[in-house]
Amino acid sequence: MLPKRRRARAGSPHSAVASSTPPAARFPDVALYLAEPRMGRSRRAFLTRLARSKGFRVLDVYSSEVTHVVMEGTSAKEAICWLKNMDTPLPGHPQPALLDISWFTESMASGQPVPEEARHRLEVAEPRKEPPISVTIPAYACQRPTPLTHHNPLLSEALATLAEAAGFEDNEGRLLSFYRAASVLKSLPCAVTSLSQLHGLPYFGEHSSRVIQELLECGTCEEVEQVRCSERYQTMKLFTQVFGVGVKTADRWYREGLRTLDQLREQSERLTQQQKAGLQYYQDLSTPVSRADAEVLQQLVEAAVRQTLPGATVTLTGGFRRGKTQGHDVDFLITHPEEGREIGLLPRVMSCLQSQGHVLYHQYHRSHLADSAHNLRRNSTMDAFERSFCIFCLPPLHQTALEGASHPCQTRRAVRVDLVVTPNSQFPFALLGWTGSQFFERELRRFSRQEKGLWLNSHGLFDPEQRRVFHATSEEDVFRLLGLKYLSPEQRNA
Ligand code: CTP
Ligand code: MN
Ligand code: MN
Repeated sequence: MLPKRRRARAGSPHSAVASSTPPAARFPDVALYLAEPRMGRSRRAFLTRLARSKGFRVLDVYSSEVTHVVMEGTSAKEAICWLKNMDTPLPGHPQPALLDISWFTESMASGQPVPEEARHRLEVAEPRKEPPISVTIPAYACQRPTPLTHHNPLLSEALATLAEAAGFEDNEGRLLSFYRAASVLKSLPCAVTSLSQLHGLPYFGEHSSRVIQELLECGTCEEVEQVRCSERYQTMKLFTQVFGVGVKTADRWYREGLRTLDQLREQSERLTQQQKAGLQYYQDLSTPVSRADAEVLQQLVEAAVRQTLPGATVTLTGGFRRGKTQGHDVDFLITHPEEGREIGLLPRVMSCLQSQGHVLYHQYHRSHLADSAHNLRRNSTMDAFERSFCIFCLPPLHQTALEGASHPCQTRRAVRVDLVVTPNSQFPFALLGWTGSQFFERELRRFSRQEKGLWLNSHGLFDPEQRRVFHATSEEDVFRLLGLKYLSPEQRNA
């Protein structure tokens, strides 16, 4: 299996240089040299560390000892020209193999030098290029379907981590570029296996491309790993996962030196009621909610709503409507076919649920709908519906629901629930706005504004030039008004 490129090392005029590289080589017949020109210094350093960690001998300086020269993105002509300029080896020494990075990547993946095939050799073949992905990907996430399960989860999650970290640093521009690139990956019809496939895709700038390249070649990306392991990222993630804690608060606590939930609990006088509840139920709330849990909660809420106002309806929105099987909360939209009947409904529904012992915490926000036309015109993204952000107590499953199965009865646990009430005339906009994903909504609003000159939010669609609001009776209507192809909730997982 090992390439037969062993050459005499004794007496080499460059052995002094070569000996400066770490020993512990598992493959004594192989001495790599990574040629920098198109690779870049930091990437070369990274690949060098990677190869050494796998027991390869990598020389820092080119010498006649080198058996394999690895180059990236280089043509045959360029590679041969580079070798000529190196002036070594001494006459009589065999030439090293000139290999494309694909040989290196495959060798790293298999943990040993793979046989050199024609496709690896730069003298023979151009660097391997997969055809670019032949479909055209539109620029806005609302112009393309994004299914829940897709072909590039590892790549998109890595970019999403960098986006999230940028959000923790309040770097909106960086957050958006990474989320946009991550979202493009989610909508691709196949798995990306080569960097050249990204050619022509929107939002793949230098940084995102570099991350993908590293992931494709090494399986991990150093920058992403560093972020994931960093104290800053981990603490910000921990704090922002607490119900009622946003990035600004988490950042302030971090800068004050706080690092753990117990430290937050010790400062309870500084916490809002919502944050106290978030900490109290932290463990339960950080456990994903299942679809079965969501269905149990839907029945509870429906019963309370029916009892309070016959004819009122409850619709499951958020991630579960998009087909997710788990969520961080359960989102419901409540309305009544007769406009106006919904006014004042939520406090009565809440007291009903409270009297039944289902509510552990809730924060009610009265409607600001009197200002909603104003909100729409201001192009506000925060909606003005009557709403309640709650923590419910998920009841143990009834014995009948277990259908004689032998699993133990589920114990009571805390679950986050969002209840939102909308007048019927705004229902399609509210449904569209609360179904998400959050990034999809953001893109929808950006598309409306930039491409159509219209302002969209969860209350309606407004034409600022003609000063008119649009009427819609369904989500399909809203897509039509925007000149967009309809996407079902399952295709909005951008
Ligand atoms: N939303 C909103 N205003 C808020 C909170 C949320 O309009 N104050 C919208 C978001 O834009 C999102 C939807 O409500 O589209 C659901 O939000 P959320 O529950 O946070 O996310 P999910 O997509 O449901 O994800 P998860 O399963 O984790 O709950
Ligand atoms: Mn949700
Ligand atoms: Mn929610």
